Amino acid sequence: MGCRKSALSFFLTMDTTLALPLLGGLTPEQFMKRHWQKKPLLVRQAVPGFSPLLTRAALFDLAGQEGVESRLLSEGKQGWKLRSGPIARRALPPVSQPHWTLLVQGVDLHDDGIHAFMQQFRFVPDARLDDLMISYASDQGGVGPHFDSYDVFLFQAAGKRRWRIGRQKDLSLVEGLPLKILANFEPEHEYVLEPGDMLYLPPRWAHDGVALGGDCMTYSIGFRQPSRGELARELLTRTADEATDFLGDTAYRDPTQPAVSRPAEVPAAMLEFARDAVERALSDPAQLAMALGEALTEPKTNVWFEPSSGATDGETGGAVVLDRRTRMMYDERHVFINGESYRAGGRDARAMRALADNRTLDKLEVARLSADAIELVKQWKHAGWLHFA
Ligand code: SIN
Ligand code: CO
Repeated sequence: MGCRKSALSFFLTMDTTLALPLLGGLTPEQFMKRHWQKKPLLVRQAVPGFSPLLTRAALFDLAGQEGVESRLLSEGKQGWKLRSGPIARRALPPVSQPHWTLLVQGVDLHDDGIHAFMQQFRFVPDARLDDLMISYASDQGGVGPHFDSYDVFLFQAAGKRRWRIGRQKDLSLVEGLPLKILANFEPEHEYVLEPGDMLYLPPRWAHDGVALGGDCMTYSIGFRQPSRGELARELLTRTADEATDFLGDTAYRDPTQPAVSRPAEVPAAMLEFARDAVERALSDPAQLAMALGEALTEPKTNVWFEPSSGATDGETGGAVVLDRRTRMMYDERHVFINGESYRAGGRDARAMRALADNRTLDKLEVARLSADAIELVKQWKHAGWLHFA
């Protein structure tokens, strides 16, 4: 494949030095330097003339489906009420009733249009991307002042929402609520967002969004910050599964152990042996990289793929496109897809990386794959992880 790029991948690869209306005229490079994880950015008309990608009815429909994560929040005389989905249409309050919000998580997994919309934000590594949530609010609806440990782009898709935002010194929460609401929220800025406007917030910036008028829809593109403890736990669990094979059955030996008068004491030599075993288990950087890639591409528990029938077997002549639910990444030595890893090198590795970056391979690129790679592509197609275009 050399370094020649096909027209298709050239078109799809993002130029991070191009000024974007989406970022208020900043280039992705400038945005990442100046704002990402540092300070908010308000963009008027990030997408000029935007019209919603999903109707209210379609969103309500999704919220009623099994396997779609949704929540209904309403604020009434008895305070906040939270209900988890699935939520049938008839269980939703009338749209004319104020003070309620429906949150539907992971809409990118369920809708191709939303999935495509989210691709505009791929100047941030996929490893950080969590999902696109859509909130629907009736007049005055909102989730109350709170903060998240997410970077988030709050894109106004329909109706108006007033956002009040601020850094908070006092992070104490109102007690006894089914959701986390700041007790002493002190906003620093206030903006009213109209369709097409967008607000970027770094993690821990407190925010309170209230719908002004009904039929307010906000798309939140959220980027998770995994914690050190969470990552360590995940990788140690995965490494532990491999460790027995990797370390073999070398046994603890103590031919120089003297007789003891304090039999309950743990021998220092055994601690040393154990420490060495753990260090050895973690000593292979490739093993750790593999565990990380597998963890990052592991589908969420509510994701399932639709295996394809064998009818089009062998028809690998055309382009391939990743399914919207597929998570695919790579590092120097591996390709990761939906929690699995493959060692890859040479031309195939370059093609697989292009597939991960562009989420598609054109006909020419497919034609250059080795027989082994074609076999893999067929297996992934069978699993419903990708489709032949
Ligand atoms: C909302 O869209 O109502 C809430 C989004 C957020 O606070 O992150
Ligand atoms: Co939030």
